[in-house]
Amino acid sequence: MTWEAEVEKLLRKTEGEVFEKATLQSLWKLMNNGYIEMIDFPISTGKEGNVFRARCKDEFVAVKIYRINTATFRSISKYLMYEPPQKVKKDRRSIIFAWALKEFNNLKKLYNAGVRVPKPIAREGNIIVMEYIGTEEQPAPLLKDAEVNDYKEVFEKIKEYLRIMYHKANLVHADFSEYNVLMHENEPVIIDVGQTVSKENPMAMEFLQRDVKNITRFFRKYIEIDEQEFLRYILEG
Ligand SMILES: Nc1ncnc2c1ncn2[C@@H]1O[C@H](COP(=O)(O)OP(=O)(O)O)[C@@H](O)[C@H]1O
Ligand SMILES: [Mg+2]
Repeated sequence: MTWEAEVEKLLRKTEGEVFEKATLQSLWKLMNNGYIEMIDFPISTGKEGNVFRARCKDEFVAVKIYRINTATFRSISKYLMYEPPQKVKKDRRSIIFAWALKEFNNLKKLYNAGVRVPKPIAREGNIIVMEYIGTEEQPAPLLKDAEVNDYKEVFEKIKEYLRIMYHKANLVHADFSEYNVLMHENEPVIIDVGQTVSKENPMAMEFLQRDVKNITRFFRKYIEIDEQEFLRYILEG
């Protein structure tokens, strides 16, 4: 049996209530350890998970919960794609825990390298707690929806972050677009780094080219961009 078939079989077997409990347990631990006091409201309900605004002491935090039960096989196989499957136990819960940990570790690497990402705070099971990007009234808008004063300035910042990401953190985002950049106080903040790969990954160059293409397509509506020069800038450091 291929590992995909094996995972699919396991997914069917583990369908049910068991792993919803895992989410509750992780939440419970985060609350007991003082990372979350209360959940305010959902910011986003995605295919693979939900993001909530929550509070800790007097601060807001963002809580990203990867769904265990209803994650589709497509997303599960995406989770496995970049990791040698034998490293992670092949049940749904272990795969998703490993995925959340991967996003948390990527956030740490990027934060330490000086890329503007939400500051990582805690990870427990399938849950990540990170800095909340937004105001008291509302979460920061995506770049695609934001009111931007100076596209050139924002593009230059993004260009710089992608360069630092590649050379200092040794990572390629791999799902980069105007859908995964928040605009907060006129500054871009990069999010959603679960699928982010090491630049040593055999797919890294392909992903980087796609990232560059996607974001170029967006900014071209407002400013002129030489895509090849942009890519070279990132690669040459
Ligand atoms: N730290 C954060 N602060 C505020 N909003 C966030 C934060 N992280 C994510 N979001 C919101 O949640 C949405 C989903 O998060 P994301 O990490 O992109 O997951 P996915 O796209 O896989 O559902 C984002 O589009 C954004 O609106
Ligand atoms: Mg996203």
